[in-house]
Amino acid sequence: MIDYGCEKELGVRWLLAPSLLENPYHVHILRGQLSNSKTLGAVFNEVYDEVKLAFDDTFTNTDDWMSIPAYATFLQIISRTTARLLVGEPLCHNPKFLGNVLGCVVHVIHGKQTLGVFPSFLKPLAAKYLTNVPQSIEATSKFLQPIIHERREQLATFEDDTADKPLDFLSWLLDEAKGEEQTLRALTLRLLFVSFASIHSTSMTFTHAIYNLVVCPEYKLPLREEIKSIIEKEGWSRESINKMAKLDSFLKESLRLNKTHTASLHRKIRAFEFVFSDGTRVPRGTAISAVELPVHPDPSIAKQFNGFRYVNEKEKGQHTNHFVSTGLDYLAFGHGKRVCPGRFSANDSLKTLLAYFILNYDVRFKDESASRPPNVYNGVGCLPNPVAEVMIRRRKPSI
Ligand code: HEM
Repeated sequence: MIDYGCEKELGVRWLLAPSLLENPYHVHILRGQLSNSKTLGAVFNEVYDEVKLAFDDTFTNTDDWMSIPAYATFLQIISRTTARLLVGEPLCHNPKFLGNVLGCVVHVIHGKQTLGVFPSFLKPLAAKYLTNVPQSIEATSKFLQPIIHERREQLATFEDDTADKPLDFLSWLLDEAKGEEQTLRALTLRLLFVSFASIHSTSMTFTHAIYNLVVCPEYKLPLREEIKSIIEKEGWSRESINKMAKLDSFLKESLRLNKTHTASLHRKIRAFEFVFSDGTRVPRGTAISAVELPVHPDPSIAKQFNGFRYVNEKEKGQHTNHFVSTGLDYLAFGHGKRVCPGRFSANDSLKTLLAYFILNYDVRFKDESASRPPNVYNGVGCLPNPVAEVMIRRRKPSI
């Protein structure tokens, strides 16, 4: 009755492939594998290893402050950690592959604007000849081709399903793809599509959290103490990062106030009419979206950043209000049937990134009295300030 993601449909159908919308088997894979504690626990070492490598390679291990463009730098780091989960090593370390994946998103965004001026029947031609998306898909598939070939050869030698397969999205795709979905192009499109859903949302959320940490320095010490005491006792594991209640709350509050979109649950009515439970009738073709309820009856309190809001709530007995638990007052991951299937994986990556960062780096603005760089809005889209710079310095000693 309700068609998911009318916004997505506009571009994806023509620029990538209709099958991504009509046969979303990647969502079933994400719901099956990346919502499952056993798999998430097993991939944690990969996540942690890549977080460490990516930070260490990006920020030289000196005691000097260095100035970096925040969003662009975190986007590079997170494209690596995401690629580790999607395609594994060694491809996740290849800057040309990562550049290509990031470039493809830019081509899709520009392509969507180009298609906007064409009627539907001309969109396929415009997508093919007037955008750089086809070249970008082709270039990505060239990186994937030898790996897919190698994985298939390995698969043929495995005697059963429990064999030691790589733990990444590509491996699950190869298991699940049927018929035409098994072609190199179809697999490339599926990987690109999941990369789009995952890299930017995670990078935006991380950048917002860093901006909040810089302008609210009073959170640094309690967060660092919580992280340090848990890691010293238990080491790095999925269980240990998920015991960090202050970190969880800080991330949740940061995302609540800085969602990737100012409205959520974008849907389009496809049936003749949709009737809500309160009797409201909405005709076919209507695009609808939802705005979340305030977390506090006083709007000025609801709009304030309170990094430990949910720690305090937990102390009052509400133990379910985690970063990943959606509700009518927290729609950052959507809600209900179509809720983001990657949120548990985003939770693990973001907490590992932030915990590692807080333990090992100091961060500030060049001008220490500067206020939070304003977000940039584009329609319902909300981006952390993309040009702001932060100063970073390696701390000693680290764990
Ligand atoms: C902080 C990071 C993230 C945020 C804020 C976020 C947010 C969202 C939102 C708001 C939706 C739409 C839900 C709805 O309309 O009800 C969504 C859908 C989706 N997300 Fe995420 N997401 C994040 C990370 C990820 C990651 C890491 C992955 C993949 C590993 C992912 C994969 C997807 C997919 C495939 C969908 C479409 C689901 C469908 O078609 O039913 N997301 N996400």
